[in-house]
Amino acid sequence: MIDFGSYFTYFFRLTLMITYLNFITEGAVSLQTIAIATQKGGTGKTTTAQALGIGLSLKGYQILFIDLDPQGNLSYILGASQQNVTAYEMLTGKIAMRKVICKIDKKVSIIASSPLLSGIDPELKKTDKEFLLKKNLEAIKAEYDYLIIDSPPSLGILTVNALAASNHVIIPAQADIFSLQGIGQLYSTVETVKKYCNPNLAIKGILLTRYNNRSILSRDLTDLIKETAQKLDTFVYQTVIRESITIKEAQASKKDIFSYAPRNNVTKDYSKFIEEYLNIKE
Ligand SMILES: Nc1ncnc2c1ncn2[C@@H]1O[C@H](COP(=O)(O)OP(=O)(O)OP(=O)(O)O)[C@@H](O)[C@H]1O
Ligand SMILES: [Mg+2]
Repeated sequence: MIDFGSYFTYFFRLTLMITYLNFITEGAVSLQTIAIATQKGGTGKTTTAQALGIGLSLKGYQILFIDLDPQGNLSYILGASQQNVTAYEMLTGKIAMRKVICKIDKKVSIIASSPLLSGIDPELKKTDKEFLLKKNLEAIKAEYDYLIIDSPPSLGILTVNALAASNHVIIPAQADIFSLQGIGQLYSTVETVKKYCNPNLAIKGILLTRYNNRSILSRDLTDLIKETAQKLDTFVYQTVIRESITIKEAQASKKDIFSYAPRNNVTKDYSKFIEEYLNIKE
């Protein structure tokens, strides 16, 4: 005879299990490692890295910043520029990985930069020097939701390490002709890194920064950047980050824009960009 009682218990347990699985996977993100890169200087890499990381931390995610730029701008604005142990010690293997992580608050940590990074290339062993960051991150990455790497304005070994360790690259660009040139050059580097070091790497969009839509030249160049993006099989974010003095003010006082000027246009732009990034389909 069919035992309806045990069938009922079975389905009840199954439903409970599915509900529980939905519960634990909802909101959980798989780790993303994001390199913010382009060799064109001053396009907003550091500003975007900071805004993206802090914006995501305010949503409750655990963030680790990695400042691979010897200029140390990101470390400075996050109040971590006086560290004795930095990305330099990590990459040269002088200090254990965990000791180079500096906690800024409950949700945000950083591996700070050092000026010594600028001369690191000849100090690294020839074999596998592209994978040093990736290997170091392996041990700690499970503790974070997003690793955000700020790279220098060059395509040397530091940027290659950033790309080899990442699955996403975001390219901040201004609506100018040199940014356009920079996008093409970075694309070639990304293709090479994909082929030899990291097949999982994908360009997750070009973000227009310091934007002034009153200029006709800006609008023409924006169209050109969109065309280029299409040819390179990527896209330009619909959100553009407007030019605003608030960025410089916040950075000068070592504050992030979300706490310095929560209602400012540029803060709204970065919040919108973060939503757009989070909604990108893999
Ligand atoms: N939306 C913006 N409005 C006004 N100023 C901005 C904006 N974004 C960035 N800046 C300013 O532009 C300058 C360059 O920005 P940032 O340092 O982020 O660029 P970068 O690409 O990291 O530069 P580098 O290539 O030197 O590392 C900084 O002084 C920053 O304060
Ligand atoms: Mg920078």
